Parts: sequence; structure tokens; C-alpha cells
Amino acid sequence: MNYTAKMLREDALKDKVIVITGGGSGLGKSMTKYFMELGAKTAITSRDLEKLQATAKELEAETGGQCLAVQCDVRHYDEVEKMLQEVLSHYGKADVLLNNAAGNFISPTERLSANAFDTIIDIVLKGSKNCTLAFGKHWIDIKQESSAILNIVTTYAWTGSAYVVPSATAKAGVLAMTRSLAVEWAKYGIRSNAIAPGPFPTKGAWDRLLPGDLKEKFDLAKKVPLKRVGDHQELANLAAYLVSDFSAYVNGEVITIDGGEWLKGAGQFNLLEAIPEDMWDMLEAMIKAKKNKE
Ligand code: COA
Repeated sequence: MNYTAKMLREDALKDKVIVITGGGSGLGKSMTKYFMELGAKTAITSRDLEKLQATAKELEAETGGQCLAVQCDVRHYDEVEKMLQEVLSHYGKADVLLNNAAGNFISPTERLSANAFDTIIDIVLKGSKNCTLAFGKHWIDIKQESSAILNIVTTYAWTGSAYVVPSATAKAGVLAMTRSLAVEWAKYGIRSNAIAPGPFPTKGAWDRLLPGDLKEKFDLAKKVPLKRVGDHQELANLAAYLVSDFSAYVNGEVITIDGGEWLKGAGQFNLLEAIPEDMWDMLEAMIKAKKNKE
């Protein structure tokens, strides 16, 4: 099986202008690269302009496409408005907003300062809100025929998760925003969807979330029914589909791409996976013997 193959045809995103927040590294960078391979013009944003410029140069050389680096701290609405203006004056339009920028760290919640909690809420929830509001107002204002918002959330947006409470709280808000605006803004031709990725290793996030030897101690691949982590291309394929016209009728959806990870933690009897085949023979015999006596 080849799950790292590229899914869409070469011109699938031709001439679409896609803005990817947090596009300078990690999953944002991988998605940006694939969008460019499919003909999209891209703009990547983050606080670190130098890193963005290096990424833009690298992706342009690799794909032959266009990538604009725009410095923007999504926590500040005025910076987001400026970023949108820069994209518009460079490309003349924007078609897709990908809210990918995020911040997270593991910590028992009672150890967090109020400012630490706020920092994550501000990046994830307020940042996604700022971008969504600025782009949405613009699209509605100019009566753009079709546009799309894609939000990167996580499966613990609906299950919650211990030790990443600010992130869980903020992502739950982003998911609610996705579904709410899917209905409210559909009349303006704006689709809103989300992706909930499971473990897709990236240097930045994984070193932060599983520092030191935690990576070996908590091998996340073992928690996944498919027994592996995700490949960046698998996520890029899904993201490209959701921002393309092929998904024109998909609106208000959150698509989980996690190898079955979150459901494994949910099913009451899932832990029976630990039982070996010969023990099942024994258990079956015991259950049947009991039934025959009743
Ligand atoms: N545990 C507890 N508190 C922490 C922390 C940790 N691991 N890391 C930061 N904080 C606290 C700081 O102490 C500070 O609170 P204080 O002022 O009360 O002391 C607050 O969080 C803000 O930290 P600061 O470093 O000033 O914030 P920042 O805006 O520079 O950084 C982060 C934002 C914390 C999210 C940083 O990790 C970051 O930029 N990460 C990159 C993006 C990322 O995390 N990507 C992964 C997405 S899954």
C-alpha cells in the first residue's frame, strides 16, 4: 500500500490563493508545499519573518510555485488585517484561509499561570477568530462568489484531554466556530470545515509535547489501531481536497485522520485487544460451558 502518494490531479488548485497561518514549519509547511504543487499561490504567516522567508524560498525552488512570506502575530487583529491587505495587494485576491497556527504545552493545569492559559487561548482561539473575522468580512464585503475556511483542530476538541487543557478548551471553540459559520456564512459562498489530525510527528510540536525521553516512554504509534503515525502527505491530501472545488458540497464537517486513535480510547471493551488468540479459545469455551448449564 502506498499511503504517501499524492492524491489530486496537478491543476486541482490552479490559481487559488491560499493563506496558511503557521505555514513556516511543520504540518503547515507540508500542506503549503502540496498546495503549490497543485498550482495554488500561497501566503504563509507567523511571527518569525526570517523563518518564513527561508521556507518560502525553499518551497518556491522545490515546486516552481509562488509563496509570499508575511509576518503576522494572529493574536492581534490589526496585524491580521494588515496581513490580509498584503496578500490582496500581492495576489489581488484570497480564496482560502487555513487556520493552522497553534501553540501548546503539556502541564498540570493547576501549575499554569493565568497568563500561560491565556497565551494558548489567544493563539488558538483568538487567532483563528481574528483571521476568520477579517477574511470573512472581506469576502462578504466584496461579494466574493466562493471561498473556504479550513481549521486544524484535534480529536480532543470533543473528548477533552488532561494536561493540555488550554489547548483543548481553545480547539473546542474553534470547532464550534467551524460548525456555526458553516451555516451562517454559507449564503455568502463561504464554506467552513475542519480537520482533526491524530499523531503526525513534527519536530517543533513533538519536542515540546513529548520532551526528553517521553517520546520513547509514550510511543504514540502504539496507541493507534493502525499501529503507525500519520505521514504528512496523508494530511496534505485531505487538506488539499477540502480547500479544492472537489469538496464544494462539504460544509461544516470535521474529518478525523488519526488511524482510529481517539476511538480506541473510547470503546468500553477496546482493552480486550490485549487478549491473545489461545486465551480467546479458553474464554469462548468457558462462556459456552456456562451457557449450557443455564
Ligand atoms: N509550562 C507552563 N507554563 C508555560 C510553559 C510550560 N511549558 N511554556 C510557557 N509557559 C508560560 C510562561 O511562563 C508565560 O507565563 P508567565 O508570564 O505567567 O510566566 C506564558 O506561558 C507565556 O509564555 P511565553 O514564552 O511568553 O509565550 P510566547 O507567546 O512567547 O510563546 C508558546 C507561546 C508558549 C505557545 C510557545 O511554546 C510557542 O511559541 N510555541 C510554538 C508553537 C507551538 O507550540 N506549536 C505546537 C502546536 S501543537
